[in-house]
Amino acid sequence: KVVAVIMVGGPTKGTRFRPLSFNTPKPLFPLAGQPMVHHPISACKGITNLAQIFLIGFYEERDFALYVSSLSNELRLPVRYLKEDKPHGSAGGIYYFRDIILEDSPSYIFLLNCDVCCNFPLPDMLEAHKRSGGMGTILVKKVSAESANQFGALVADPVTNELLHYTEKPETFVSDLINCGVYVFTPEIFDAIEDVSVHREGRANLRRISSFEALQSATRNLPTDFIRLDQDILSPLAGKKRLYTHQTMEFWEQIKTPGMSLKCSALYLAQFQLTSPHLLATGNGTKSANIVGDVYIHPSAKVHPTAKIGPNVSVSANVRVAAGVRLISCIILDDAEIMENAVVIHSIIGWKSSVGKWSRVQANGDFNDKLGITILGEAVIVEDEVVVTNSIVLPNKTLNLSVAEEIIL
Ligand code: GDD
Repeated sequence: KVVAVIMVGGPTKGTRFRPLSFNTPKPLFPLAGQPMVHHPISACKGITNLAQIFLIGFYEERDFALYVSSLSNELRLPVRYLKEDKPHGSAGGIYYFRDIILEDSPSYIFLLNCDVCCNFPLPDMLEAHKRSGGMGTILVKKVSAESANQFGALVADPVTNELLHYTEKPETFVSDLINCGVYVFTPEIFDAIEDVSVHREGRANLRRISSFEALQSATRNLPTDFIRLDQDILSPLAGKKRLYTHQTMEFWEQIKTPGMSLKCSALYLAQFQLTSPHLLATGNGTKSANIVGDVYIHPSAKVHPTAKIGPNVSVSANVRVAAGVRLISCIILDDAEIMENAVVIHSIIGWKSSVGKWSRVQANGDFNDKLGITILGEAVIVEDEVVVTNSIVLPNKTLNLSVAEEIIL
């Protein structure tokens, strides 16, 4: 049997995702019209003998309850949310719930970060993992040399794919091969985590009876049960024939900022062409608007036939799009209203917000720049004939004058 664990983190981790993380946990933010965590979960459907899917995080139980129960029905597979009482780190989190994860005596455990966007080639990884005979296989990708230091950088044996060296977010250049945050392990991973945990406790006890300087280490301030998969497990096990890599040539991005969520929404919409074409709007339906490229429109949205929508647009539940509206590269969240002849480009429109007649909400679309996309938080009102450019507007604001390059608090 196989189980899958998806690490969803918790509220304190989502600060870079503001203002969109104020009222929705980041893992449930829609990309291509589906909650972020839906995409790795969908990928799990491709695993043979999958017994359970676990989401582990420290968000409130109720945030995930509805989602998890409807998902279990849909997949006809138990999906469980396991709530940590506090953050335990990416390895500490699975260790904390080891008894539950091992209930079905799985031979393999997939571990997926929820905030990465890729096609999750899980069956290929499992094949590679079985061939290697190791304890774990990490999905890796080549990125530009300039961006590699934002990730776990690693060196792998070109022939055996063994992980030879691993440094988490290195200060100087190590390698352009990086950790994608997608893994498959044998249950021995829990022994490896236990070793770290026991060692930590031992040192903590020693420290209590001794002030010896040599005992001071970079991990001294971490609680003994806080264990990071990358620094505490992958780094020390590199070069010991226990960990292997599987390189992907497909798309891969990390989703830490709202700008990246818009980029990843586009990647997932494009992937729907292959995996779920029925989710893409065609413009042939009864409420047909003029559709350009990849577009998702929730069935409950009301879109006027004279609106022109796409490419890369996702329209959520109960949104109203009036006559003559133009939407390009944007995410329109639940219950928002876009009024007659308004234009939205490279922007995210918050829940219950409204964009007035002949108004423009726009940005230059530079995903790496904080103000490269415009974001309206929840319940923002842009009045008629107002232009909002490259700006972030916090919830509940009303804009009656045009703004550019501003953060409106
Ligand atoms: N449940 C739980 N509990 N989840 C956690 C915790 C925790 O205490 N801490 C982190 N996570 C989750 C996050 O939500 C995320 O999905 C994943 O674990 C990794 O988060 P971080 O440990 O904050 O690392 P990161 O995202 O900055 O970098 C990691 O992922 C990159 C790929 O996206 C590293 O493994 C990098 O090496 C890697 O390149």
